[in-house]
Amino acid sequence: MTDQGPILIRSVGVIGAGQMGLGIAEVSVQAGIAVQLYDVSGDRIREGIGKVREAISRNKCTELPISGKLAGSDSIDDLGACDLVIEAATENEAIKRDVFQRLCPILKPEALIATNTSSLSITRLAKATDRPDRFLGIHFMNPVPVMKLIELVRGIATSQQTYEVAQGYAAQLGKEVTTSEDSPAFIVNRVVLPMINEAIFALHEGVGTVEAIDRGVKLGANHPMGPLRLADFIGLDTCLAIMRVLHEGFADQKYRPCPLLVKYVEAGWLGRKTGRGFYDYR
Ligand SMILES: NC(=O)c1ccc[n+]([C@@H]2O[C@H](COP(=O)([O-])OP(=O)(O)OC[C@H]3O[C@@H](n4cnc5c(N)ncnc54)[C@H](O)[C@@H]3O)[C@@H](O)[C@H]2O)c1
Repeated sequence: MTDQGPILIRSVGVIGAGQMGLGIAEVSVQAGIAVQLYDVSGDRIREGIGKVREAISRNKCTELPISGKLAGSDSIDDLGACDLVIEAATENEAIKRDVFQRLCPILKPEALIATNTSSLSITRLAKATDRPDRFLGIHFMNPVPVMKLIELVRGIATSQQTYEVAQGYAAQLGKEVTTSEDSPAFIVNRVVLPMINEAIFALHEGVGTVEAIDRGVKLGANHPMGPLRLADFIGLDTCLAIMRVLHEGFADQKYRPCPLLVKYVEAGWLGRKTGRGFYDYR
């Protein structure tokens, strides 16, 4: 907040053209914010920009001239002019730290950095930047255009102004906010991932088939989809990474990742994004 009112975000850099990064790009462009997309893979950027354009033009309510609002590049230097950069690269701390070290020198000093991490410590990631006070977690839910919620996570050094700008950005997108302290997997995934892991244990132990487990939880608990289907949507690599953060962060056996989840990830069966997980999407 300033004397002139809330600070509006006019340009967003998105790091990672995966399922989350593309969703964040889509909702930001829809809100009239300029988006610069960056990924290590040039193919992913080209495909991603096509997908975002297609999604926006499918949305009949929008008649935005998006051509000047969405750009992509495989050079991180092109994020230099952004007001806010949201990192949505693979859930791996070493990758994220490396991205921040390359990003910080090219940003303007007042720019904010956010991470979309599902589970990693915001305080520790902030330490890999030159601006821990201007760093926070902006955790979108999947699929971003559909889900109403954004979970905001403050690290120990995040300033009140940074938090308020992020609240303002969420409002620009028309999203609802909940706020979590910086603790392993925050609120939503602290609750949801152990449920998914338990469903995988039930499958592993032969308690029920994939269909029986999903049907039971979907209809029995009135969830929009079963936990195994949800795991496929999240990505099994991301599910495993979150369970490992919970397991290590709390040193509690109740968060032990199911061996069947580990096996699927080792097989490269990562869910919908690779065409195969608990269900077959090929
Ligand atoms: N999948 C979900 O349901 C979900 C929900 C909320 C948050 N998240 C978080 O969002 C982040 C991304 O998840 P996703 O599901 O989009 O993964 P994804 O596998 O679909 O996409 C990850 C992207 O990051 C890119 N990438 C990898 N290393 C990079 C680097 N060094 N620089 C730039 N780009 C790089 C990859 O090329 C890929 O395009 C993760 O931190 C994840 O925990 C995921």
